[in-house]
This record gives sequence, C-alpha cells and structure tokens, in this order.
Amino acid sequence: MARRKLTGLHILLTGASSGIGRELAIQLIEQGADIIAVARRADRLQQLADTIQRPEQFTYLVADVTNPADRQRAIAECQQRWGGLDVLINNAGSGAIGPFSTADEARLRRVMEVNFFAPVELTRLALPLLRRGTQPIIVNVSSVLAHRGVPQKTEYCASKFALHGFSDALRAELAKDKIDVLLVSPSTTATEFFDKVEGDLQKPHGRFGARSAAYVASAAIRALRAGRHEVILSTGGRLLVWLDRLCPPLADRLVAWWG
Ligand SMILES: NC(=O)c1ccc[n+]([C@@H]2O[C@H](COP(=O)([O-])OP(=O)(O)OC[C@H]3O[C@@H](n4cnc5c(N)ncnc54)[C@H](OP(=O)(O)O)[C@@H]3O)[C@@H](O)[C@H]2O)c1
Repeated sequence: MARRKLTGLHILLTGASSGIGRELAIQLIEQGADIIAVARRADRLQQLADTIQRPEQFTYLVADVTNPADRQRAIAECQQRWGGLDVLINNAGSGAIGPFSTADEARLRRVMEVNFFAPVELTRLALPLLRRGTQPIIVNVSSVLAHRGVPQKTEYCASKFALHGFSDALRAELAKDKIDVLLVSPSTTATEFFDKVEGDLQKPHGRFGARSAAYVASAAIRALRAGRHEVILSTGGRLLVWLDRLCPPLADRLVAWWG
C-alpha cells in the first residue's frame, strides 16, 4: 500500500476521551486530518475540543460503541458531514483481570462487547462509506496480548485475539476493494486503562516500562502513513511474540512465571 498523507482525511475515532485515543486525536488534527471522535464521557470530549488547536477539524459524539443505535449515529454523522470516510480507528477498549475460574460469563461478555463486537459491527456499518474514501483504511487498536496470551487476563486476551483474527481475515477479503486494515499492538501504556480495569488488581500490575500514550499514538500514525498492516509497539512485545513463534513451551513457562 502506498504512503498516505493525512491532510484532509476524514477519520472516525472511537475512545477519544482519554489515553491513546485522545493523543491520536490531537496528533492527527495537528497533521491536518478531520476527526469525528466518539466516547461516553461528554466532559472529557469537551475538554479535548477545548484543547485542540484547529477546532474546525474536530467534532465529537457522545456515544457508547456497544450500543447499536449509537454506532448507527456515528456513521450517520460521517455520512452527513463528509459523504464518505477515509479512516476508521477502532480504539475504544476495556480490560479485566484476575483468575478465569472465579470470574463469570457476564464479565467475559462485557469485555467481548467493547473490544470485539463493537469494532466489528462498527466496521460493518462503515464499509459503504469507506468504499467512497481516499486510500481507505480500518485501524484496529489491539495489544501485544492479541499475539500471546498471559495468565489473569483470559477475557482480555481472548477479545484481542478475536480482533486480530478478524483483522487478518478482513484485510485479505477487502484487498480487492483496496480497503486496508492495520492492526496496532501496543504494550503497557500509561493511561487510565488500569484504573478502570474490572477485577482485582492485586499488584501494581504491568505498568513497569510503560510507554506514554503520546508515543503509542505517534507510532500508530507512522504505521498508518507508511501503509503497514501490523505493528507491535515495543521491543519487549516483539521479543515475546518471536519467542512464542520459535519456542512456544519456553514462552508458556515465561508468561506463567511472570503472571
Ligand atoms: N493501556 C495499555 O496498557 C494498553 C495496552 C495495549 C492495548 N491497549 C488498548 O488501547 C486502547 C485504548 O486504551 P487506553 O490505554 O487509551 O485506555 P483508556 O485511557 O482507558 O481509554 C479507553 C477509551 O475507550 C473508551 N471507551 C471504553 N468503553 C467504551 C464504550 N463502551 N463506548 C465508547 N467508548 C468507550 C473510553 O471512553 P469513555 O469511558 O469516555 O467512554 C476511553 O476513551 C484499548 O483498545 C486498549 O485495549 C491499551
């Protein structure tokens, strides 16, 4: 895929009220893109609107991505403002932590709703608009844990593995339509994510060596511009994925010890 210029591109971005999504919005607007941002917290979206240097390039929608009517509203907004869509960024996500045996089905379904069904169904709705877009692309913000499962995060890993599989399959399916799919896999990132994670965070888990949201957003945007299909955003993450491919039993022992 050819390199992509961001100036004037029309982008629908979910999960823009904090963390990686907020940074993506700020940096994409600085680079000339137009954004419709989606999240549930109106006050945070308004704060972001107040921060942004070029307000004419930014609008937001208070919406829950797990709600089908809200997803329809987001797509209708793109249709009304732009008549098409160049980039869909499925970034909204949430996590759960703790043993599988003591968790329940309701928690698994909540995580899957946000991290898998919502981006998949928003993608389905967005396809007609993307077909009218310029160098159209779907960006799915996933995780290193979409490549290698770890203990105590079964629901989260399952949801991100599902998004990974969906992304690979869809990329191949949409190649003939020239709609691209980029899977972005951050490692631990310093955001509110761990404050909101469901379950019992027994130790200050996983924040060691965390990257900033600004770093992750800027690496994701580089991958988007370069037309890459997949990017793992830390050396530790890349090493873990390679170890898992080369010697799965050793990777199993490592993550069991670490977890
Ligand atoms: N932080 C990490 O260590 C890390 C590592 C790897 C991957 N990731 C992934 O990166 C993405 C962004 O996470 P983050 O670290 O930036 O966490 P964050 O600061 O908690 O941001 C999550 C965003 O998702 C939005 N969101 C959650 N549920 C939503 C819903 N039902 N409808 C609409 N928006 C919703 C939140 O907004 P509202 O609450 O306002 O709705 C917020 O804007 C997620 O997909 C996450 O899985 C994070």
